[in-house]
Amino acid sequence: MAEAPFGLLAELTHRCPLQCGYCSNPLELVRRDAELPTEDWRRVFDQARSLGALQIHLSGGEPLLRPDLPELVAHANSLGCYVNLVTSGVGLSRDRLRSLASAGVDHVQLSLQDATREGNDRIAGIKAFDRKVEAAAHVLDEGLPLTVNTVLHRQNLDNIAGIIAMAEQMGAERLELANTQYYGWALRNRAVLLPTRAQLAVADPVVAAAQERLRGRMEIVYVIADYHEAHPKPCMYGWGARQLTVAPNGDVLPCPAATVISSLEIENVRDSSLHDIWHHSPSFNAFRGFEWMQDPCRSCPRKEIDFGGCRCQAFQLTGDAAATDPVCSLSPERSTVDLILENEIAPSEVPSMAMRKMR
Ligand code: SF4
Ligand code: FES
Repeated sequence: MAEAPFGLLAELTHRCPLQCGYCSNPLELVRRDAELPTEDWRRVFDQARSLGALQIHLSGGEPLLRPDLPELVAHANSLGCYVNLVTSGVGLSRDRLRSLASAGVDHVQLSLQDATREGNDRIAGIKAFDRKVEAAAHVLDEGLPLTVNTVLHRQNLDNIAGIIAMAEQMGAERLELANTQYYGWALRNRAVLLPTRAQLAVADPVVAAAQERLRGRMEIVYVIADYHEAHPKPCMYGWGARQLTVAPNGDVLPCPAATVISSLEIENVRDSSLHDIWHHSPSFNAFRGFEWMQDPCRSCPRKEIDFGGCRCQAFQLTGDAAATDPVCSLSPERSTVDLILENEIAPSEVPSMAMRKMR
């Protein structure tokens, strides 16, 4: 039997007021009329808690667009779960936050697209910066812990020092600096988003110095730009190991991007329990442990560190979800990634960002 998951990522809706080009949600979004109703989400939370999950991350899209959010927060809280609200901050007024805090939100994770109003709003596609600054102030006034999350890419990496300063100014306890992962919509914009090696050479020491300077005051988590690395990231800390995701339509995913693996048979909470899906479904068991691995992963000592990298990336770049993640220097397909870096970072004509517009 697999160990219990730590947490549930509940993607309450794909609807979102922002239009970020780095969005990793699938190309085909779940429409509003296909979203799970309140009673189904309540059942999902019950089942996640029975399975052992202690954290519920309410995410999307923008979870504030669900009118039943306070009820869902209260239900997750009544189960004894730690409730994390993952939001763009758009719509998080003082009153709204107050009612969510009294319903039981324990923590807020706020996205920030860039260090300045102009940069933030250009990447977000709407005027959102001032609303984010206000939302951060409301979170602090309410006495809740705040994490700021910034997705990094070629368009904002040069402003890394400003982004760190902005998170400090907002009063964040934690800052997640996550280089873009190329799934869903983000893959479409890869040539606009991939950072240059020179950008990373400047940014990496800035982050390391800030981690040292802010130790004990603001934790900084830095997710690497894996295309430039010799080894892959330990994606999800192993497939089906720590967290499960429920998409807005009730699909249960071993990782939030798993719909990109078209060969994966995905189950739904309308048909099966989370217990059965977590423990017995072919999708969750497909890449658990080490048996599924091919060489070079199978005989590599790093397999217990990086679990062979990312299954979604392996599928997208090689067509085989069980292949070694091609960002690994030991992968027979590493040349695919080198070619992408060569061809996409400095194309003669830089394409413009395809903004993500919800209809
Ligand atoms: Fe990790 Fe596999 Fe590369 Fe070894 S061969 S470093 S296990 S991805
Ligand atoms: Fe799906 Fe890495 S994003 S396994």
